[in-house]
Amino acid sequence: MPVPTSVHKAVVPAAGLGTRFLPATKATPKEMLPVVDKPAIQYVVEEAAGAGLHDVLMVTGRNKRAVEDHFDRAHELEEVLAAKGDDDRLETVRDLSRLARMHHVRQGAPLGLGHAVLRAREHVGAEPFAVLLGDDLIHPDDTLLADMLTAHARFGGSILALAEVDPAETHLYGCAAVEPTGTEDVVRVTGLVEKPAPGEAPSNYAVIGRYVLDPAVFGVLERTAPGRGGEIQLTDAIHKLTGRTEGQGGPVHAVVFRGRRYDTGDRASYLRAVVQLACGRPDLGPGFRSWLRNFAEALPGEPLPAGRQPAGAPAAAAACH
Ligand code: G1P
Repeated sequence: MPVPTSVHKAVVPAAGLGTRFLPATKATPKEMLPVVDKPAIQYVVEEAAGAGLHDVLMVTGRNKRAVEDHFDRAHELEEVLAAKGDDDRLETVRDLSRLARMHHVRQGAPLGLGHAVLRAREHVGAEPFAVLLGDDLIHPDDTLLADMLTAHARFGGSILALAEVDPAETHLYGCAAVEPTGTEDVVRVTGLVEKPAPGEAPSNYAVIGRYVLDPAVFGVLERTAPGRGGEIQLTDAIHKLTGRTEGQGGPVHAVVFRGRRYDTGDRASYLRAVVQLACGRPDLGPGFRSWLRNFAEALPGEPLPAGRQPAGAPAAAAACH
């Protein structure tokens, strides 16, 4: 649901190589991998549009033409569907090109997330803006971005999204030092460390891929030296904003997210996203859920919940097809 906000533009960095998903991503951008029947990037653009951000800038790299085509008109396909009278699919295809005003800029060189965001400077100008990372898929029923825009209207400055993670996983994320604000699930961010070494994380609050940023971040990014992995890190620039006051790019607050999030760049998390979203779909869900129940019951060596009987051999064979 759109909330009253001064934020109108979303930036979606989509220049990564997708190496964790090779060979699928050799010739296909990782953003185009389907989650049920939509490419992962479509969920992200729908999330932005759903929160009222109808101006979307993709920061792409080489080999990303399919991403541009996906959100563009497809006249030939539309004519074929119209001639067949396949109105539902025709609408699905047309809706895509109406979702948001799409803009594209190339990152040029893979110098890091901070560098990708800096490439958005000209398009964004002097307005606050959102950044949505394509690998982080937020369940469409969860309202994280709207909650962040609400927090931005109240606290100003910049707003991050944090999720509590297992301390053994903090080295995979930017991690935040936080203090309470008195508002439930909104914290003040006092410092950030990008992918801290084990034992050096300021907390187990991990930065997840949604940001509402003050445009002052661009000037900071310009002067941010390469950090972790030799890349210009967005986390390092936002860390510098934490000490600033309103009007200078600060303060930095965060919404603590307790909903469903998937890392579609990680194979196991991607599979969970496909299964969970398919189960919730009104068209596919009922049949898929009953198949899945049989399949899960027939899995060898897995303890069953109390009171459940193991399925017989024929059911097991059927479940595997
Ligand atoms: C990026 C950010 C990191 C953040 C993560 C969330 O890392 O640099 O701070 O925690 O996204 O997904 P990446 O996963 O692109 O290496």
